[in-house]
Amino acid sequence: MPHLRSKLALIVALAAVAMTAACANRSSQSSAPQQSASASASSASEALYDPQALPTGPLGASIKLGHDILDDTQKYLPHNVVAGMSCSACHVAAGTQARAGSLVGVYARFPQWNKRAKRMITLQDRIAECFLYSMNGTPPAYTSKEMIAMVSYMAYLSRKVPTGQPVAKDTRFIVALPSAAPNVAHGAALYAQKCSMCHQANGAGVAGAFPPLWGPTSFNNGAGMSHLAMMTGFVLYNMPKNAPGSLSMQDAYDISGWVLTHKRPVFQKDRLITQPSQPAKFF
Ligand code: HEC
Ligand code: HEC
Repeated sequence: MPHLRSKLALIVALAAVAMTAACANRSSQSSAPQQSASASASSASEALYDPQALPTGPLGASIKLGHDILDDTQKYLPHNVVAGMSCSACHVAAGTQARAGSLVGVYARFPQWNKRAKRMITLQDRIAECFLYSMNGTPPAYTSKEMIAMVSYMAYLSRKVPTGQPVAKDTRFIVALPSAAPNVAHGAALYAQKCSMCHQANGAGVAGAFPPLWGPTSFNNGAGMSHLAMMTGFVLYNMPKNAPGSLSMQDAYDISGWVLTHKRPVFQKDRLITQPSQPAKFF
């Protein structure tokens, strides 16, 4: 165990150095190489979310709670999450990074037509979807402090974005795939070389540090990330975490193809969504 822990500490430290370097390239203000991984990740997005610059009072507290829930979902909503990951596993740095599940502007795009539901859905419905599929869990009630906090946070992230605009292309990570099937044997070899030191050879990751890519603690088969195009795009732009952008499209495609050959939880259609009724004081 101590062995594993020191190995992990080393990996995390290496990742922090790599990320600090990446941020330094992007932002001239990034002058603190000793910053932690998460601090340096958010420094690039200071203007989007800075806990010091939030509105004061209960509104600021709600926005901050929403941010913190995305970053450490299990801590705040242990009964709503089955998958061993937080929203930030896919919406990197709580949705503040382009091409990494950015949630900037999302509030301006709802309510929205949803093909799967065949109706207009609200932002709360869309958040509930990620709870059901990506987190393999159950959504918190729409009137709960936590759901309201996630919506306030996303509204805050979207405060400069007008409604009715098409999604800015560079926020998405969806890519056009090669026409041939992925070479999963090549993907397996690359996975062992470039991914398994964090996500582990068995794909289970390491709780609290590296999210699971397959197996019982991963997202279920209804999740967006279980589609080859989504995972390939995410991996192409964001992985490996210690050298993002270093994979070719073909490599990202082959690795994702291999990751997706493994078993993962199956979505349970009859999972209950509870909406406790409220006395009409004022909600
Ligand atoms: C396993 C990966 C994964 C996890 C974990 C995850 N999501 Fe998502 N989420 C996605 C993908 C993929 C999309 C679709 C992205 C796209 O269409 O570009 C998405 C879309 C969304 C959207 C709509 C974004 C838009 O621009 O339309 C919201 C809101 C959202 N997620 C919230 C959450 C919240 C809140 C959590 C945590 C409770 C969460 N997600 C956890 C993968 C994930
Ligand atoms: C240095 C450690 C590290 C390495 C190496 C790494 N990852 Fe990740 N990966 C992470 C972390 C941490 C996250 C959570 C998101 C974040 O913080 O960027 C993540 C998130 C992910 C996710 C989305 C969340 C999930 O559980 O599905 C996928 C998919 C993924 N990685 C695939 C890969 C693949 C494929 C490789 C190899 C090409 C790879 N990763 C290499 C650390 C790593």
